Amino acid sequence: MLDIRIEKTTNPKQLPAADNPLRFGTIFTDHMFIMNYETGKGWHDARIVPYQPVVLDPSAMVFHYGQEMFEGLKAYKAADGRVLLFRPDMNAKRTNHTNSRLCIPEIAEEDFVDAVKAIVKVDEKWIPTKPDTSLYIRPFIIATDPFLGVRPSDTYQFIIILSPVGPYYPEGLDPVKIWIEDDYVRAIRGGIGEAKTGGNYVASMAAQLKAHEEGYSQVLWLDGVERKYIEEVGAMNIFFKINGTVVTPMLNGSILPGITRDSVIALCKEWGIPVEERKVSVDELYEAAKDGSMEEVFGTGTAAVVSPVSHLRFKDHVLKVKDGGIGALSQKLYDTVSGLQRGQIVDTRGWVVEVK
Ligand code: PLP
Ligand code: COI
Repeated sequence: MLDIRIEKTTNPKQLPAADNPLRFGTIFTDHMFIMNYETGKGWHDARIVPYQPVVLDPSAMVFHYGQEMFEGLKAYKAADGRVLLFRPDMNAKRTNHTNSRLCIPEIAEEDFVDAVKAIVKVDEKWIPTKPDTSLYIRPFIIATDPFLGVRPSDTYQFIIILSPVGPYYPEGLDPVKIWIEDDYVRAIRGGIGEAKTGGNYVASMAAQLKAHEEGYSQVLWLDGVERKYIEEVGAMNIFFKINGTVVTPMLNGSILPGITRDSVIALCKEWGIPVEERKVSVDELYEAAKDGSMEEVFGTGTAAVVSPVSHLRFKDHVLKVKDGGIGALSQKLYDTVSGLQRGQIVDTRGWVVEVK
């Protein structure tokens, strides 16, 4: 059990008003978790303190070489008052997967989960209760050595902040339009694509601006070598239902191994729907859209949950997905995943963890 010192704020903020739309990632709670790392000493001094600025030396390595990682998960308030997390052990595992790629020291999985539970417990009253709202949890690690040479840092801070949120996309569950990018590339195999680190997101911004200008909400990335195979969306993994089969790009080292992706694959398999994790080419999507076998397209992610896609644009072509509405499978997956997360559906898979 992680030993955490708790210093409560003497100046609590006002909770968001009931009619606040909780625009994603704009409001932060009263407290934050911090733990330090030093080579030779390991992770130490775990504490929860009032939410406050992080003071760093301008030469801190995170500013120069981007040695940092982050995670994303959510806490939900069930109707009976229980506070629930969804598969936090998977975020802990993915943290260490990211850390090993970025030469950041490992964190014990139990310590990661204990820290998440502790900060959520302290700020429990910030968990919103309206439909489609939750408390977004953002754990992250930064390299803090004051040093300008290129090497892994010897000191780090692991921090967790919390933000009450509504839907990630302003569209909510309404289908989103997605831009297939053929010029910029997000990641390549052997790079850092499967790590959850800022570098992948800054690499995505120019294309995202371009897509927004054209009226598209997100970018769908192609593989960095042939620019032919589908990878993932800016903040979601992507699924296609073609001729009754659910198809999604396989984990190939350059896409994020999404926890929602893993859960959706497991649910589809349980429901007897064939699932294929494999290479998916843009050409195949063209054909499927043309011959009418493309039944549904949806993205999956913690922030976005299950997000139906109505249009895919590639170069000058717009592929419309069926009638542009919410597909039956997308709706069922959304209802099931969010029902499990919110304790409305009984969890039989050991996915839901209560914060006590
Ligand atoms: N892909 C990217 C690039 C993401 O940022 C996210 C969000 O975390 C996902 C996929 C979905 O992952 P998860 O379902 O674990 O949230
Ligand atoms: C998440 O879904 O948790 C994410 O990290 C998406 C994010 C980039 C907002």
